[in-house]
Amino acid sequence: MIEKINNLLTEISEINVSAAVEAEEVRIKYLSKKGIISALFDEFRSVPPHEKKEVGLALNNLKKVTHETINNLKQQFEQKTIDNKNIDWTLPGTMFPLGSRHPISIVKNQICEIFASLGYTVSENREIEDDWHVFSALNFPPEHPARDMQDTFFIDKNRDLLLRTHTSSVQIRVMESQKPPIRAIFPGRVYRNEAISARAHCFFHQVEGLYIDEKVSFADLRQNLLFFAKELFGQQTEIRLRPSFFPFTEPSAEMDISCSLCGGKGCGICKYTGWVEILGCGMVDPNVLVNCNLDTKKYSGFAFGMGIERISMLKYKINDIRLFFENDIRFLEQFESA
Ligand code: PHE
Repeated sequence: MIEKINNLLTEISEINVSAAVEAEEVRIKYLSKKGIISALFDEFRSVPPHEKKEVGLALNNLKKVTHETINNLKQQFEQKTIDNKNIDWTLPGTMFPLGSRHPISIVKNQICEIFASLGYTVSENREIEDDWHVFSALNFPPEHPARDMQDTFFIDKNRDLLLRTHTSSVQIRVMESQKPPIRAIFPGRVYRNEAISARAHCFFHQVEGLYIDEKVSFADLRQNLLFFAKELFGQQTEIRLRPSFFPFTEPSAEMDISCSLCGGKGCGICKYTGWVEILGCGMVDPNVLVNCNLDTKKYSGFAFGMGIERISMLKYKINDIRLFFENDIRFLEQFESA
């Protein structure tokens, strides 16, 4: 009898079930009135008196262990049912965190959209350029200071391959490969060998514009830029063109907008002048057209170039250019994707 009890103990310890009903079946098999253990209690009556104590203890232990085992088996399923009941299916779930567009991309897209509404197409070109497209074709004389190592990151010893220092190189690429009329803007990254500070970085972004056709005038340039400034900074914005110099435009100008922060009254951002400079522009120098094999008697055009960081800093009142490139999530999270 002891042997039987021990065998049952092992048998029970090895039981495994996959549902609450199965656990109940196990209970019926062992513990119900007609079950195996009840039958043993019947048998117990015929155990000789001197063995009764030992067998009785073992039998009670078997009954206790079987009870516990079956309860445990049942509990694992009860636990699951309770968990299910406790879930509030109407609660909102945990959302995947959504990223947002980088402020430079947001502003770049806005600039592109404004010019697209004036019929400009958008194209991009290489960042690793040669001397011809960045300097020579753009009418930079050989001794021009911008060609200096202090401004330009050269890639080879001959100083022919370099990281473009402005997007004006794309003007040349486009005029070499397309026939006028050309009306396009070129967004992209540019590189300059400058000490990093709150105002300057060794790389930043520009949007270049180019319009080449018959009879394009400075008045067209002014009107396009006025429309652009009003669209980007608000209809109250005024523009002012100041004479300037670029090797690839003649005449050249720098464009200021009325300070969007103080409305022209004067503040720290506009250095109390009421105006902030946002871009360079001018009529494409005939030498540049000749370098691209365009007939200067037939065609004229204008070009302009602006820094996206500078415009973004004005728009969002950001006072340190380095913030754009530090990838600090607390900074980036503040810009809603557009
Ligand atoms: N390329 C000039 C710069 O980087 C900007 C510019 C572009 C000026 C086109 C005139 C015409 O400063």
